[in-house]
Amino acid sequence: MISTKHLLLSIFLMSLFTAVIKRSSQGNLLNPIARPAISRAMHIQSIPMWEGTGNNYAYLVTDDKSKEAVIIDPANPPEVLPILKDKTDSGAIKLSKIINTHHHHDHAGGNSEILKHFKLPIIGGKDCDKVTMTPDHKSTFNVGEGIKVTALHTPCHTQDSICYFFEDGADKAVFTGDTLFIGGCGRFFEGNATEMHKALNETLASLPDDTRVYPGHEYTKGNVRFAKKVLNNDAIRKLDEYSQANKETQGKFTIGDEKQHNVFMRVNDSNIQQLVGHDKPVDVMKTLREMKDRS
Ligand SMILES: *[C@@H]1O[C@H](CO)[C@@H](O)[C@H](O)[C@H]1NC(C)=O
Ligand SMILES: *[C@@H]1O[C@H](CO)[C@@H](O)[C@H](O)[C@H]1NC(C)=O
Ligand SMILES: *[C@@H]1O[C@H](CO)[C@@H](O)[C@H](O)[C@H]1NC(C)=O
Ligand SMILES: [Zn+2]
Repeated sequence: MISTKHLLLSIFLMSLFTAVIKRSSQGNLLNPIARPAISRAMHIQSIPMWEGTGNNYAYLVTDDKSKEAVIIDPANPPEVLPILKDKTDSGAIKLSKIINTHHHHDHAGGNSEILKHFKLPIIGGKDCDKVTMTPDHKSTFNVGEGIKVTALHTPCHTQDSICYFFEDGADKAVFTGDTLFIGGCGRFFEGNATEMHKALNETLASLPDDTRVYPGHEYTKGNVRFAKKVLNNDAIRKLDEYSQANKETQGKFTIGDEKQHNVFMRVNDSNIQQLVGHDKPVDVMKTLREMKDRS
């Protein structure tokens, strides 16, 4: 039986508790330093594949609020499926889509096998295996409640190359496949220098500078080796140091950083123009790529 004394005591404790809560939230509002860091709703997990040979990355991106998740370029199912199965079985994610950056087998070659285990639509370029939907340039779709994705067509490495710009509030990331690497760009297999110049210098360069870059491969060390032959600046020296000390560089650099350390995004740099003997951006792009292919 609850006595009046007990009842009064619990009412007293409850109002004390409410007062403390009120005080602490007010304190947080008045003192931003005491406020807990705003938790990032967009969670990005890198899944390295063919380490030591292709050095590819698949990416699992989850909207933490709804747990809806997409898997980008799950090209090597033995390295990706166990992670997807664990996370779906435990209820940590609800997988909703496969997303492909382009049709090459080391990006879209895992689609058929993944489909045997998960019934999912495939968003990707027109030549991707089993693709169900190719988004228009600059069209958008959502992942869960928080993430807005914008598809950016960047034809050159392949004609069906698409980069995906993910935004969750202030948090921004772009998945660039083999179009833009940290400190480099993809080979012009199906396109030309005009198209790569547009992809890098117009389409990707127009993203906010604080957009983090997640490329399809870990190629940074080799890219820096080439960049140092073409240009000496502080940004390239910093990238060199970072890539010597860290095995993985994806997500550590932004579009703003690329404009400083990526020679393919500096085709109007007079030092580079002098070295390659051209001043038109497209000619600089073409010559840089030829030099890199030979290096
Ligand atoms: C580059 O490719 C585009 C698109 O296919 C084409 O319109 C253009 O003429 C090409 N430019 C050169 C210099 O080959
Ligand atoms: C990129 O293109 C814009 C507009 O065409 C130009 O103003 C800018 O200088 C270019 N940047 C590079 C790095 O070529
Ligand atoms: C090159 O283009 C970039 C981006 O438009 C611009 O910020 C920079 O000032 C340009 N550099 C030169 C040397 O024109
Ligand atoms: Zn490729």
